[in-house]
Amino acid sequence: LRVVLLFGGRSSEHSISCATAGGVLSAIDREKYDVIPVGITRDGAFVLESDDAHRFALDPQALPEVIDNGTRITWPESAATRELRVTDAAGERSLGDVDLVFPILHGPFGEDGTLQGMLELVGLPYVGSGVLASALGMDKHFTKLVLQHAGIEVAPWRTITAQEWDRDPAAVRSSVAGLGLPVFVKPARAGSSVGVSKVSEPDEFDAALATAFAEDDKVLVETGVVGRELEIAILGGAHGESPRSSVAGEVIMSGREFYDFEAKYLDAPGVQLTCPADLREEQLAEMSEIAIAAFEAIGAEGLSRVDFFLTDAGFVINEINTMPGFTPISMFPTCWLNSGLSYPELIDELIRVAVA
Ligand code: DAL
Ligand code: MG
Repeated sequence: LRVVLLFGGRSSEHSISCATAGGVLSAIDREKYDVIPVGITRDGAFVLESDDAHRFALDPQALPEVIDNGTRITWPESAATRELRVTDAAGERSLGDVDLVFPILHGPFGEDGTLQGMLELVGLPYVGSGVLASALGMDKHFTKLVLQHAGIEVAPWRTITAQEWDRDPAAVRSSVAGLGLPVFVKPARAGSSVGVSKVSEPDEFDAALATAFAEDDKVLVETGVVGRELEIAILGGAHGESPRSSVAGEVIMSGREFYDFEAKYLDAPGVQLTCPADLREEQLAEMSEIAIAAFEAIGAEGLSRVDFFLTDAGFVINEINTMPGFTPISMFPTCWLNSGLSYPELIDELIRVAVA
């Protein structure tokens, strides 16, 4: 099977995508798959990348990056062909017919349905959710609307556009007063906690909004939920196959304000991932049921990681990630490892579901 591994991309999660690709490149079974690594630069150029997993390792000192090496990928010229071509210093040549695209991309222009739309147009099958589910999962405002409609508990929030803020800051400030403190201020369409701030005092609010607006012109202000942070992974749910969930993992923090970018990727102290999480059987069953309901509510396919808070009043969904990070140390593969699926088997499974 010839598989295009797509990574990097135009979003602020470029490097995380590269790190995930590094994990996949080092683990994917070369007997079964002919892998074509295609990087997307921060400017959006599609380049033929090196097949060197080490180049894309998650190094907290120097996060991995797709560099423009001057090559250019040409996607199939119509939906009647699956031929991928590359142009480099030696001219243009064929890379052969592609069976599947594995878009390991996080954030806008990758995880949000835009890339999925392009692949639909050129007629190439791909791993993961389609256009609508990807767009819904990327947008925290619309995710919440859909989950609420499905009867799933989400944290109270208010969505603010840059226009509203420019027009009348005082009105915006008073409109979020009912959410209490602390609140979290988040870009609607970003990930890995980029642009997210915790606001504990009213005078921190304006700066937090500015940080979030730097990522997106739509921002959520959300009540800070007090509870354990639990995550669960989902596979399947495409081509008539029911989705299934893994065991749960837990993010345990000590002396940190929240699970921010540094805690996620830069080896910052005060955060520990455990899997399986210490839950009673019926708690895990309930979490799994809600996660699958959320997955189905947005119409996700292939894979997702659903993030929860467990409060005294029960489970609250924080968000659903349709293309979760899966560097070898990430929660998504760790949850599957503890559910009996090794990292190479997980890759097989993602591909199997996509080509079914
Ligand atoms: N957005 C990051 C990659 C995650 O959800 O894991
Ligand atoms: Mg996310």
